[in-house]
Amino acid sequence: MVTSSSTVAIGSWRLEPSVWFVLRSVCIELEPVEAVGATMNGDRMTPDRIAAAGNALASAKTVFVVTGAGISAESGIPTFRGAGGLWEGFRAEELATPAAFEASPERVWRWYLWRREQYHACPPNVGHWALRSLSLSGRQCLIATQNVDGLHRHVGHGDDELVELHGCIEKMHCTRCGRRASLPPVASSPPGELPTCRECGGLMRPHVLWFGESYWDGVLERAAAFAQHADVCLVVGTSAQVWPPIQLALFAQQQGATLIDINPEPTELSNRADIYLRARGGEALSALLEAAGVPLSMPEPEAAG
Ligand code: OAD
Repeated sequence: MVTSSSTVAIGSWRLEPSVWFVLRSVCIELEPVEAVGATMNGDRMTPDRIAAAGNALASAKTVFVVTGAGISAESGIPTFRGAGGLWEGFRAEELATPAAFEASPERVWRWYLWRREQYHACPPNVGHWALRSLSLSGRQCLIATQNVDGLHRHVGHGDDELVELHGCIEKMHCTRCGRRASLPPVASSPPGELPTCRECGGLMRPHVLWFGESYWDGVLERAAAFAQHADVCLVVGTSAQVWPPIQLALFAQQQGATLIDINPEPTELSNRADIYLRARGGEALSALLEAAGVPLSMPEPEAAG
């Protein structure tokens, strides 16, 4: 990170220190979800909302996207807080912690390798392809995803368009020296052996942010630097239970972006959004692209993975 008296450079993004201060202090006073649900029940994707969202997207040059587990639901990956979150009797919250890893690195690794295998059987869905189509339409896009499944990468988003806020299941890092590495291909994963660092011999751990840990340096800053210039902020498939990603979306809105929330169930963010589309990610994003005149480009179903 290069600093000067007035700006902070993060990759190709520059962030005014004052803006970072604003982001950190974005006031979160969201209505309880029950109140949101009371006003939103029955509303789905009304044509006027799709038209308004399509107009905003049509004229946008810069689009900031925040995704959560819901965008991968149509690929067959269970959401974080939905049904199907149990593994051998454990909840994710019991396994995704430093304490769980310390108590049993074998068990935590087995859980992550099991999840990784599940993800490999799940191809990206129309929602992922719609976001890829958006970035191919000439707009500057950055996706800040809470997902570790790597599905945004599978459709072709590279590091320049993607911030994996919570890490990636395809990566690991050393608990001693911090060195990052990719996991070996699924088929060649040796069973049993715990991976160690080839530089210092330390134990490797999944490169995933665990409960109680701080975000890695530069991750939120990079997303915020982009968000502050966004014309549109799309939020897709998150329960809005984890604050930093939601703060990024509210920050983008505060800085002038039109905030569009897509979720079949209203969340505490839905009422704060300029436009709430009560629908599944794939359905809403393909309708949105059509309304904005952006062609949806995705492979035929049999080759979609
Ligand atoms: P959640 O499981 O909390 O929420 C998933 C959201 O997706 C819910 O609001 C669903 O209504 C919505 N949803 C379900 N199906 C959908 C569909 N087809 N299209 C669109 N939305 C759909 O997952 P996240 O909000 O992503 O963090 O959870 C955030 C973080 O909580 C995770 O990244 C994880 C956890 O703590 C870490 O592990 C650090």
